[in-house]
Amino acid sequence: MIQLHNVSKLYPPDNTGVRDIGFQVEDGEFVFLCGPSGAGKTTLLRLLFRSEPVTEGQVIVNGRNITRLKGKGLAAFRRRLGLVFQDFKLIPHMNALENVSLAADVTGVSWRQSRRKAFALLSELGLKDRYGALPPALSGGEQQRVAIARALVNDPELVLADEPTGNLDPEMAEETMRLFARIQRRGTTVLIATHDYRLLRRFEGRVLMMRQGRLVGEQYTAGAAASP
Ligand SMILES: Nc1ncnc2c1ncn2[C@@H]1O[C@H](COP(=O)(O)OP(=O)(O)OP(=O)(O)O)[C@@H](O)[C@H]1O
Ligand SMILES: [Mg+2]
Repeated sequence: MIQLHNVSKLYPPDNTGVRDIGFQVEDGEFVFLCGPSGAGKTTLLRLLFRSEPVTEGQVIVNGRNITRLKGKGLAAFRRRLGLVFQDFKLIPHMNALENVSLAADVTGVSWRQSRRKAFALLSELGLKDRYGALPPALSGGEQQRVAIARALVNDPELVLADEPTGNLDPEMAEETMRLFARIQRRGTTVLIATHDYRLLRRFEGRVLMMRQGRLVGEQYTAGAAASP
């Protein structure tokens, strides 16, 4: 699903960013990107959806070199991704259900079907009673969960999530991780950046460890909380 070859992204003037990154992620894998603040997790995720061009190297997603994608090709590529980033960008005058179903509406599914799917996801994320609320009336964690539902509503083949549990209390964080694990079991590839090592250890998956812009190690977690 993902192949990185000698990827570097260096920001002037200090050449911060990421350097010489190479790894591969198979279809359907559950992968954590872990490392302290400033390690390069967000930078790497941004390279994977071509939010920014690499300085050097190649990024291959689903057999396709995305390094030079732009315009329509880039838009089509991104439509198949589920992106969960920290700036949620929910539409303030649309309620939670509408924010989620809008993402499905634009792909041409029926109104009923997109509403049904959106509601099911919001329910799985503990927002069954808040689906009619406007974003400004939702807590940070609730908004984060709406953003997660929105990222998942079109059954993406690849989910990229940056600290998706950052605003959640421990219980909700674990519940949200369980949802990602369920989605992965349905066949989606999931890549989650987090510095919450304690939380990820409770889930089964592969951990890529980053530090100071480099990939410094890899391990597998056995998981204890992954079962539904
Ligand atoms: N747009 C930018 N311009 C300049 N430097 C940047 C830019 N984006 C990131 N950096 C630098 O690149 C390095 C990696 O940043 P990145 O945001 O990827 O870290 P991170 O692992 O996501 O950290 P955190 O856990 O705090 O989110 C940092 O030193 C950061 O200052
Ligand atoms: Mg980050």
